[in-house]
Amino acid sequence: MSARSRVLLGVVSLALLSSGCAAERAEEPPAPDAWGEPAAAPDSNPDPRIVEVELEARAAEKSFLEGKTTTVLAYNGAVPGPLIEANVGDTLVVHLKNSLPEETTIHWHGIRLPNAMDGAPAVQEPIAPGGTFTYQFTLRDAGFYWFHPHVMEEEQIRRGLFGVIRVRGEGEPQADVEKIVVLSDALLKEDGSFDDDIDDELIMMGREGNVVLVNGKVMPALDVQPGALTRLRIVNVANGRFFHLALPGHTFRVIGTDGGLIPRPYDAEKLLVAPGERYDVLLIAQGEPGTELTLTNEPYERGHHTGLADPVPLATVRIGAGPALSGRALPDSGPAIERLPGGAADTTITFDEAYVERELKFLVDGKTHPDVPPIHVERGATRVFDLKNDAEMDHPFHLHGFFFQVLARDGVAVADEALANKDTLILPQRSTTTVVARFDEPGHWMYHCHILEHAERGMMGEIIVSH
Ligand code: C2O
Ligand code: CU
Ligand code: CU
Repeated sequence: MSARSRVLLGVVSLALLSSGCAAERAEEPPAPDAWGEPAAAPDSNPDPRIVEVELEARAAEKSFLEGKTTTVLAYNGAVPGPLIEANVGDTLVVHLKNSLPEETTIHWHGIRLPNAMDGAPAVQEPIAPGGTFTYQFTLRDAGFYWFHPHVMEEEQIRRGLFGVIRVRGEGEPQADVEKIVVLSDALLKEDGSFDDDIDDELIMMGREGNVVLVNGKVMPALDVQPGALTRLRIVNVANGRFFHLALPGHTFRVIGTDGGLIPRPYDAEKLLVAPGERYDVLLIAQGEPGTELTLTNEPYERGHHTGLADPVPLATVRIGAGPALSGRALPDSGPAIERLPGGAADTTITFDEAYVERELKFLVDGKTHPDVPPIHVERGATRVFDLKNDAEMDHPFHLHGFFFQVLARDGVAVADEALANKDTLILPQRSTTTVVARFDEPGHWMYHCHILEHAERGMMGEIIVSH
């Protein structure tokens, strides 16, 4: 089956599932589970400043499509895996048991931590089948993070190995409702099993699934009171799909992103979320009681003329019948964050794609990982990089272990108001983005495209921070 017909199959099955026939709806678990939010992992440590959880990576059965079973890989049998809840300053201890028939590790995407806990192959021997490993580190920053394997990540993540971490801090907005939104997709055959075929089209754009999922569910429903100040913690864990979110009659007030709250919230009619990125948004639920709204994935042209033809339905938002809540206001400001010093870039990293001996490769400075020469940085140094994307498609750049801030796009300085701590950022096709980071932790830190098919085929490098 070609990639195109697979996509069609997906649209058809989504259309069937979202047509809202009563029998299908009745199969959905009742509220409040209808949203499919992951349950919190039990904390076994009595010390209030230590969160200690057990995770087991193993195969499990899951039903994404009505009446069809998919054998997934999952943390504690759940897709998404269990939610890890903590407060800023807490120590997190995670005992991982590998019950997969293959090696694995956990990488803590976006979290600033000691290098030995990063889970990347440069710093951790993969955990053998049957093996265990304990991760332990202090959570320095409030925000919404996620975790996933960093061994065969292209395969393990798309099969369900991902989970989220919510770290609470000071000065958080008081919302009436707060919900987690884990965006992903799955490429399934008609019998419900994963389609493992891959062709150049899927490699080029990243493996987009034919079933689009929110919290591991097709078209879950979110119930909110009219007027409710609703906070959504959004992450895109898909291998390749970009999500471009829209909710009719609503605007997203963006209050935070990868590295936590931002000082200057802004409004977005549509919210673009690339693989790996997070957004923290507020909205005030609007509509007559009983209104059903559809959260959609809107077309976005991310290169090679592949913009979606039609919006794809993702979830239903139901405005409840209860009394309208009023007097809720959207915040205009958030906590300050330290601005890193700017200046001209001293290093350029160039991303591109090419056929090398008839195989599609994704290049950093003309080379593929592990042949990309490492960048050396002194501990504590601040460095400015020009991230140059020469390709005809967007690549979401991700840096391990540190936040970075955007200084300029194609040489034009980014407004002061846009200050944000990022760890994953879209590098638009044929453009240069100037970013700054401070490297305060020694060790070997990866950077790579978070389209996993690209990372796997070369688009990855290393920054070595001296001791
Ligand atoms: Cu979420 Cu190295 O990545
Ligand atoms: Cu990461
Ligand atoms: Cu890429």
